[in-house]
Amino acid sequence: MKSLEQKYAEFEKRSHHAEVGGGKERIEKQHAEGKKTARERLNDLLDPGSFVELDKLVVHRGTDFGMDKTKIAGDGVVTGYGKIEGRLVYVYAQDFTVFGGTLSRANADKIVKVMKLATKMGAPLIGLNDSGGARIQEGVQSLSGYADIFMLNVRASGVIPQISAIMGPCAGGAVYSPALTDFILMVRDTSYMFVTGPDVIRAVTHEEVTKEELGGAMTHNSKSGVAHLTADDDEQAIMMLRELIGFLPSNNLSEAPVVPTHDPISREDEHLQTLVPADPNKPYDMSEIIHSIVDDGNFFEVQPHYAKNIIIGYGRFNGRTTGIVANQPAHLAGVLDIDSSVKAARFVRFCDAFNIPIVTLVDVPGFMPGTTQEYGGIIKHGAKLLYAFAEATVPKITLITRKAYGGAYDVMASKHIGADVNLAYPMAEIAVMGAEGAINIIYRNKLKTEEDRLNAVEAYREAFANPYRAAELGYVDEIILPKQTRSKIIQALEMTKNKHVQNPMRKHGNIPL
Ligand code: HXC
Repeated sequence: MKSLEQKYAEFEKRSHHAEVGGGKERIEKQHAEGKKTARERLNDLLDPGSFVELDKLVVHRGTDFGMDKTKIAGDGVVTGYGKIEGRLVYVYAQDFTVFGGTLSRANADKIVKVMKLATKMGAPLIGLNDSGGARIQEGVQSLSGYADIFMLNVRASGVIPQISAIMGPCAGGAVYSPALTDFILMVRDTSYMFVTGPDVIRAVTHEEVTKEELGGAMTHNSKSGVAHLTADDDEQAIMMLRELIGFLPSNNLSEAPVVPTHDPISREDEHLQTLVPADPNKPYDMSEIIHSIVDDGNFFEVQPHYAKNIIIGYGRFNGRTTGIVANQPAHLAGVLDIDSSVKAARFVRFCDAFNIPIVTLVDVPGFMPGTTQEYGGIIKHGAKLLYAFAEATVPKITLITRKAYGGAYDVMASKHIGADVNLAYPMAEIAVMGAEGAINIIYRNKLKTEEDRLNAVEAYREAFANPYRAAELGYVDEIILPKQTRSKIIQALEMTKNKHVQNPMRKHGNIPL
């Protein structure tokens, strides 16, 4: 019979084996590539001493290709739970040093376990992905593991926040778990995501493309819109994950944490008085308004490199997390196009699912014209944003800073689709279209001279290019001075804090996908 010392020693030995994972050489290779190991990442992510590991000793059950002779405790993924700023989160981190972090059936079961716990306990799930994908030696068993994860991603969607950090390879069907989650963060130079890699592409379509061009961090953050955040390295990625979690509630039934601030709620900013130019054709940077009005100027922008004509992200007003959606007149005049509509629609739906109020800042000349947009389906994609704003039952506060023209006026959280408080600056222009376009249509071929035309344009501007028609009709509740923006938004958020409305009972709506 083994002595107590021997039993403790065996436990220490097994535990140690699990912790060294694939061994010194593979850990060094991981470091040489600029990547941390799974355990180092979790150590950085979670509050010191808070990590509780589950299934540390799980091994795979594969027998083909001599796999029964190579078992490593943990089997390529470290799972468990811990805290971020004292709040519970569930985590899994794929360990590339063990079988390339690949997904075996046993490895999938570990991930499935934390996903089920996260959903049941109502705490966010953070996945740190770094994996060669399906473990080839396990065949369809591995695929079944992925499918189980996908299924749980869908079941948890809208129940708990799900965040994926891509910190190494993520290829083939493996990309679909992150794609089902709420946020994807990618690390520059060391991460990539694609459904088929460069070799397959070369064989099938004869295209030459590098891994980085095909699926690197900037590709997905600026071109495809698949990813939401970019980090320069593992350390920054972890800091961003912690910051993001701080803005979010733990689940769909709870509120985001309130972060007390010394920033006065009635703080006025004189700079805003002159930020929006008198000339409606001159651009300005909407992010200056955002940074000026949120607590301590702290704005966490999501998808900053994609569809820059719309800005989305989180800020706090008097300590409370708020989602901000804002047209950006400094980019494509703030026009709504396919990409910006889809970007904002998904964001609005996330906010709505998780009880995060939405502040919408509007300066939009309309929808982008052109065959590229029409053939690409701007009708259905624009409808996504309309649908998302209309179905959202969280407090909705809208401020028109300048242009609100045409269908885009309706779409951008207008009173008519359920905004609770609608504000406008005195320089707001709310009408069916801008003066030049309107005159060309109303007076087609009827104005004889250029002078007549200019007079007609001026008369239209005088009559329509202002917020007063809308204010007279009650579509705008209040015209405010730009310097008062912060206090007016905080007042509106306070007033709507206990809003409780419900859409009619249904299985689910049918958003135009
Ligand atoms: C089993 C794998 C593996 C895999 C890597 N390894 N991928 N083992 N199944 N899919 C092992 C390697 O044999 C190696 O083991 C270790 O992991 C590290 O891999 P390396 O190749 O040495 O590392 P690196 O040079 O950095 O290259 C990483 C890589 C490459 C680019 C990910 O390994 C690769 O291309 N792997 C195959 C990727 C792939 O095609 N996966 C299937 C995708 S389809 P040793 O013991 O030598 O260290 C998929 C379907 C999902 O995932 C389905 C969902 C529906």
